[in-house]
Amino acid sequence: MDFQGDGQLQNDLILRVARGEAVERPPVWLMRQAGRFLKEYRAVRARAGSFKNMIARPEYAAEVTLQPVDLIGVDAAIIFSDILVIPEAMGLPYEMVPGKGPLFPRTVRSEQELQGLRPVAEESNLNDTYEAIRLVKKRLNGRVPLIGFAGAPWTIFCYMTEGSGSKTFSVAKAMLYRAPELAHALLQQITQATITYLKGQIAAGADLLQLFDSWAGVLNRPVYRRFALPYLRQICEAIQEVPLIVFAKGAFFALEELAELDCEVIGLDWQCEPDFALPLVGNKALQGNMDPCQLYAEPEEVAAACRAMLKAFPKGRHIANLGHGIYPDLPRESVQAFVNTVKAFSYEKE
Ligand code: CP3
Repeated sequence: MDFQGDGQLQNDLILRVARGEAVERPPVWLMRQAGRFLKEYRAVRARAGSFKNMIARPEYAAEVTLQPVDLIGVDAAIIFSDILVIPEAMGLPYEMVPGKGPLFPRTVRSEQELQGLRPVAEESNLNDTYEAIRLVKKRLNGRVPLIGFAGAPWTIFCYMTEGSGSKTFSVAKAMLYRAPELAHALLQQITQATITYLKGQIAAGADLLQLFDSWAGVLNRPVYRRFALPYLRQICEAIQEVPLIVFAKGAFFALEELAELDCEVIGLDWQCEPDFALPLVGNKALQGNMDPCQLYAEPEEVAAACRAMLKAFPKGRHIANLGHGIYPDLPRESVQAFVNTVKAFSYEKE
């Protein structure tokens, strides 16, 4: 596939892996790297007053996006935002309740509530993310690529129907079994909004994109095939300009189907061994997948575990990362040890 120019990038390791080109070592970044494990992030958040203010003000979003690049030395930035900006753009606002997580005062559980949603308008909250991307690209000045992202339709559907996180997502799942047509109609609207959003991120300068299907693991194979994959497929087919990473947490049962998507990289969560995935994913590149909890160990142990992980993935087809988002209380030294170990690795010397 031909991707639009990224000629000015000084470090394009992650793009080379995504395109199947040769690299001297794996690139490394961390899911949720623009977040609370950095005291510098917490300081900006205190200045901003709230999480949503940080997202709505591109100046704050840009500042915390750059922190892990400047302070930890990762090989890619990921734009600071949230997957929940999409429901908001569709007319379903959320709140971030400290200590609890996201909350939607209104949900979509009926035909009538579905009718209340709207397509993404020209002027919407999504423009804040586009503006933040433009700012970050300017300040990165080609040092590393910038990752844009969105939630996968099934995961966004979970939040819009449940109204918050859940252990079982039984409200969301009940809708699949009891009102499949309503579920498909909502999933289709989310898909449309997501394609618009991702195209906007590309236009603003995102160099590659990741889809987070955080709640894939509450479904099984037939249900995932019916309610998640068709929408992932539409998005993958619509996005041809930049490489795409699909991270479907807990979807070990759908690796063969994910491998058939028109995406470049499949993210593995920390429960999925590379050995298990490799025969199922064709020649796609893989991303992952250290257990974030492993980083509670001493830095030397983290380094050893990291090297073992690097050796378990195929040469040149691996983007080093955790197998889910980083936790806010992880010791910075161990996070740094993880990143440094990847950066010191050399395929030639192995
Ligand atoms: O990766 C990055 O650093 C970029 C920014 C980013 C955030 N959220 C910022 C954030 C990304 C990529 C996300 C994705 C996201 N958001 C997902 C998918 C990834 C995953 O973890 O599975 C999900 C499910 C959400 C929804 C969400 N946002 C939840 C459930 C929560 C609360 C839980 C928590 O971690 O506190 C958030 C809040 C959130 N999004 C924070 C950050 C930095 C913490 C907010 C704070 O500063 O208090």
